[in-house]
Amino acid sequence: MTLAQRCKEVMPPMANRVTDLGIVKGEGCYLYTDDGRKILDFACGIGVCNLGHNYPSVVEAAKKQMDHLVHGCHNLVYYEPYVELAEKLVEITGGDRKVYFANSGAEAVDGALKLAKYASKRPAVIGFKGAFHGRTMGAATMTASNSAYRKYYETGLMTNVYYLDYPYLLHTPYPYDGIHTPEFYFKQFDELFSKLVAPEQVACILMEPVQGEGGYIVPPVDWMKYVREVCDKYGIYLIYDEVQSGFGRTGKMFAQEHFAVRPDIMTCAKGIANGLPLSAIIGKKEIMDQWLPGAHGGTFGGNPVSCAAANETIRVLESGVIDHAAKMGVYFREKLKLIKEKYSCVAEVRGLGLMIGVELMDEKGNPAAELANTIQKKALEEGLFILTCGSYKNCFRFIPPLIVTEKEVDTAVNIIDKVMGAICK
Ligand SMILES: Cc1ncc(COP(=O)(O)O)c(C=O)c1O
Repeated sequence: MTLAQRCKEVMPPMANRVTDLGIVKGEGCYLYTDDGRKILDFACGIGVCNLGHNYPSVVEAAKKQMDHLVHGCHNLVYYEPYVELAEKLVEITGGDRKVYFANSGAEAVDGALKLAKYASKRPAVIGFKGAFHGRTMGAATMTASNSAYRKYYETGLMTNVYYLDYPYLLHTPYPYDGIHTPEFYFKQFDELFSKLVAPEQVACILMEPVQGEGGYIVPPVDWMKYVREVCDKYGIYLIYDEVQSGFGRTGKMFAQEHFAVRPDIMTCAKGIANGLPLSAIIGKKEIMDQWLPGAHGGTFGGNPVSCAAANETIRVLESGVIDHAAKMGVYFREKLKLIKEKYSCVAEVRGLGLMIGVELMDEKGNPAAELANTIQKKALEEGLFILTCGSYKNCFRFIPPLIVTEKEVDTAVNIIDKVMGAICK
């Protein structure tokens, strides 16, 4: 039996994989399967292995840490890689912050929501349609990209949550000249505050600086600055979920740097330790200092091995990898623009750095979800692993390792061209 068949015997259908690949090894940009295939991996374990699989010095750092201390429990003791990582995260996020470690993105999001409620003593929360924040009850409440993620859980979801529209301008129903963000996206805050919830009741606005699962949507800078102004005006905490967009993915350490807007609190995970489970909540000192003993915690957060891997990951990212990612992102998007010119089903190529989405529409202008799915499957048959995304499920996304070369980008684009050439106009 294959690994996939064995899994199906002992795991629920919910755990069915996007592929049936059985993986025996990962190295750099490639995955190696148990039936002898070498796959160009532009999924990166959903944006985790930013330095590529099994980056040697990160593996080495983790191994070395295992010889000293595998678990200490950060509720009980202090240990060097944990403190060192917190110091580094404070440094790379502006210097006036404090850090709390958890294990996963969702856990960090739940913690950030708890922190905002605890410190503000306000009950309400604002999120955005199209957002994905994870699977725990708090994070699932804030997730509004797919009703399947919420179905039958509604009674357990958080109350006092309001969802606004993220400026997904390709599909905006409001007048849009292609330059100026439609007024609606600004006015909706006042509308909400006047009709549904008083701003003094709102603890936080939670948002992804680039919507990931929702379709790799990059919001306009003026709107991002406006959201910051709204928060400042009413004393609402601005939380950025940088779980997917962080650690070099967008060609900067964090996506927020593209907008020159700083959040009050942020979450990160995925790429932080290049594959080891770890997440962090990074918040302004004056907010974090209000979070008192007993208010939050967890056994495994800030595991020593994960922290050691993260320290080395950040060191390597800072040694030139992020600049390389920014350059490769420009190169990749230029190549994809040629694909857009060639195939009329490509509605948009978008993204920042190496967080790149391609949105597909049919000839009637409807989202082409089936097509995105087919391209993903056919590309894998040709040796390229990509993922789909989008609230309409009609995008495919490229999340290559940040160490990707021009040659590997060319290989990927050629595969996409070949696959699309056979099925698209
Ligand atoms: C923006 C964002 N937030 C949170 C999460 C949840 O992270 P995790 O799966 O580690 O819980 C994800 C996962 O894809 C994400 O993309």
